[in-house]
Amino acid sequence: MTEHDFRVVKIATEETYALRIAVLRADTPTSDPKYAEDSQQGTVHLGVFDQDKVLIATSTWVVNPWQDDPSAKAIQLRGMAVATEHQRSGLGKILLEAGITHAKTRDAKYVWAKARDSALNFYLGNKFISVGDGFTEGVTQMPHHLVVRKLS
Ligand SMILES: CC(C)(COP(=O)(O)OP(=O)(O)OC[C@H]1O[C@@H](n2cnc3c(N)ncnc32)[C@H](O)[C@@H]1OP(=O)(O)O)[C@@H](O)C(=O)NCCC(=O)NCCS
Repeated sequence: MTEHDFRVVKIATEETYALRIAVLRADTPTSDPKYAEDSQQGTVHLGVFDQDKVLIATSTWVVNPWQDDPSAKAIQLRGMAVATEHQRSGLGKILLEAGITHAKTRDAKYVWAKARDSALNFYLGNKFISVGDGFTEGVTQMPHHLVVRKLS
């Protein structure tokens, strides 16, 4: 399977949990994969399945204002995870661009995220900029930076 074969589809909240736990809860104080925003109005979950119908990438797109322009429409990217064995093969970028397309259809002016420092270069390589000082995120206890991409 090449990256060109991957199709991004909308998925249900529950479908995200196993991959969130495996990728985003490893080495953290919690194994709870749920976000309060999962069932918020406007939230969309996107995913990519492999040939065996196993979910190998997931992300969640939440309507949430960007701090520096609170009156503009904005989408927060949460729960961005690619299965370990598929990382760094372009799948994250495919999923990210599908989410950006979704955000544009919602007339969002910004997509933003709390980026793990370990993944910061992924965002910076995909048209996001880092804003402000680093911080320790409460749930994972990992170092993070805010990142934002202005949509044209
Ligand atoms: C971050 C993540 C979503 C990126 O998805 P991906 O499919 O691995 O990324 P892509 O293959 O599209 O792009 C990878 C490129 O991003 C950049 N990058 C830098 N740091 C990276 C990192 N920690 N992980 C992935 N890519 C990184 C590199 O330029 C890399 O290209 P290279 O492999 O040629 O050096 C994925 O690696 C992942 O799930 N990581 C663990 C969980 C995580 O950190 N999620 C983000 C939470 S904010």
